[in-house]
Amino acid sequence: MDLDYIMKTRKMTRRFKDTPLEDSVIEELLKSVRFSPSAGHAQGFRFLVLTDFFARIKFFEITCDKEWLNTDKAKQLIKAPVIIIPFALKRSYIDRYNQQDKLNSHMNRNFMESQSTPFWITDLAFAVMLLLLKAQDLSLGALFFAIHNNEHDLKEQFGIPSDADLIGTLAVGYKNETQYRKPRKSLGINDLIKFNTWK
Ligand SMILES: Cc1cc2nc3c(=O)[nH]c(=O)nc-3n(C[C@H](O)[C@H](O)[C@H](O)COP(=O)(O)O)c2cc1C
Repeated sequence: MDLDYIMKTRKMTRRFKDTPLEDSVIEELLKSVRFSPSAGHAQGFRFLVLTDFFARIKFFEITCDKEWLNTDKAKQLIKAPVIIIPFALKRSYIDRYNQQDKLNSHMNRNFMESQSTPFWITDLAFAVMLLLLKAQDLSLGALFFAIHNNEHDLKEQFGIPSDADLIGTLAVGYKNETQYRKPRKSLGINDLIKFNTWK
């Protein structure tokens, strides 16, 4: 698909078919993260992919309220055959920015600690965006959604390093919706962009 078309047609999918994704499709989707940019090429992003039914149920049981799991909304989401938990490793950036080339170019030794948005979070978000776009390219549905509860238990259950940063989760699968949620009004180009000064 053409990039412009992919960007314009990508919508968060909240209703999935329970049809499994072929391994080759999952592989093609996941390969996209290898092309994601990262600060210092530190590549401190990782992706835990849950394809096993019981693992996926466990994910939802840990992170969602019991009452919510009984709603129609939840049932439509839980059908997604692939759950991807992206996480960021701060230590990859600390290590990378302690290498000589970075020590030479960054005079501020506290650079890593002084960023209001750490590189590892930015990098992870970029990689997730590639997954969202690639999913659309493959005509798959995807939803990025918040992890509401029990991050600590989630990490422990699935062996995610305790110092990893989580930013949310992706559900991926075949779309079971044609009518997407009516979006809030999109801002116009003049609201989003200004040239030369923000005054
Ligand atoms: C950081 C972030 C968190 C989000 N969390 C949720 C969520 O918990 N549940 C949900 O249904 N959608 C969630 N979304 C999806 C947004 O609601 C959606 O992107 C927005 O309404 C615009 O719609 P579109 O992506 O389909 O164009 C999230 C999106 C982002 C970027």
